Amino acid sequence: LASTEVDLGPVVEGQRITVTWRGNPVFIDHRTADQISEAEAVALDDLPDAETDEARVQKTEWLVVIGVCTHLGCVPLGQKTGQNRGEFGGWFCPCHGSHYDTSGRIRKGPAPLNLPVPPYEFTTDTTIVIG
Ligand code: FES
Repeated sequence: LASTEVDLGPVVEGQRITVTWRGNPVFIDHRTADQISEAEAVALDDLPDAETDEARVQKTEWLVVIGVCTHLGCVPLGQKTGQNRGEFGGWFCPCHGSHYDTSGRIRKGPAPLNLPVPPYEFTTDTTIVIG
């Protein structure tokens, strides 16, 4: 499918879901207020791939990123309850130890770039279409 429609209605705050778009996992995170403030508080100088959180989201509570590590393509951990989310509370790639923050930005480890944001739009308050 060229595009994937996702109903965000059932996804509660603090919950993460994974959908598939063009054969890749897409991580959708209904972020908590703490996760949002953490993402917004980071200085650009501390980021290997400098991007503001604001530039990566359309609505602050919803983070949507492609779940493929930008090092060598493993799928990072952190989607399931109890999994290691790494030192910055986002995702952790166990293949070679890359740590992503609550905006999906690379913070530590060999991955060079942030988890990419796919093209998507809100078609209702709680529905997005990816692609
Ligand atoms: Fe993720 Fe190497 S593939 S750290």
